[in-house]
Amino acid sequence: MPIDADALYSLTHGLYILGAVDAKGRLVGSTVDAVMQVANKPLVIALSCNNNSYTKECIEQSGAFSLSVMGKTVDPFVVANFGFQSSRTVDKWNNVDYKLCNGLPFLSENIAELHCKVLQKIIYDSNTLFTAEVTGCSKTTGGEPLTYFDYRSSFKTDVMKSFEEFKKNTQASGKDIKMAETKKKWVCTVCGYVYDGEVPFEELPDDYVCPLCGVGKDMFEQQDA
Ligand SMILES: Cc1cc2nc3c(=O)[nH]c(=O)nc-3n(C[C@H](O)[C@H](O)[C@H](O)COP(=O)(O)O)c2cc1C
Repeated sequence: MPIDADALYSLTHGLYILGAVDAKGRLVGSTVDAVMQVANKPLVIALSCNNNSYTKECIEQSGAFSLSVMGKTVDPFVVANFGFQSSRTVDKWNNVDYKLCNGLPFLSENIAELHCKVLQKIIYDSNTLFTAEVTGCSKTTGGEPLTYFDYRSSFKTDVMKSFEEFKKNTQASGKDIKMAETKKKWVCTVCGYVYDGEVPFEELPDDYVCPLCGVGKDMFEQQDA
């Protein structure tokens, strides 16, 4: 049977902001969709992180993370801020309203929040799967959760626009957004993912695939940072 990425997009999830703290106490985070509840007793969820994610490294070190569940009315920039750049070079939480709870950051506006403690991890070539116990969670407001399907079918356009706007404004105001300017910027032409790994894009193996949509290296193009 062939592998058709569209089939996998039918496994739709929600969209969350993952929060953690690095070894120096700096707040880090990323946009994730690969989260699901796997047990009721104990209360356990699974989270899958790309292996090039800095947030993943920090979770491995600290053993704890937060999840803010986004509603359909979330500012599209939140998804871009946490999904299109790395905490290695950007203080993403400074760009949004957030609160701290037991040392972990949460979006001020979310529809539910979860505090999680890592139980196990499984390392695959592309991703690391964590299982984690939910040590605290609350439903903060009503509202429908934003889904990955919403993102792919329509919300992504606004997310990308908001990021372009952000970059323009930041550059215009002379602030250093420390994004991909330090590296070449390679963008997936299918889903908009911006490669931000440590290894220069050109040196990635031929079988490298976009961590978001699964297409090959040949579907990436270089864009001005
Ligand atoms: C809509 C969307 C969904 C994403 N889902 C995941 C995911 O489930 N797991 C993951 O590790 N990265 C996911 N990403 C990619 C990360 O958010 C992205 O690689 C981010 O730049 C990592 O930042 P970090 O290096 O600060 O951890 C997603 C990005 C977007 C825009």
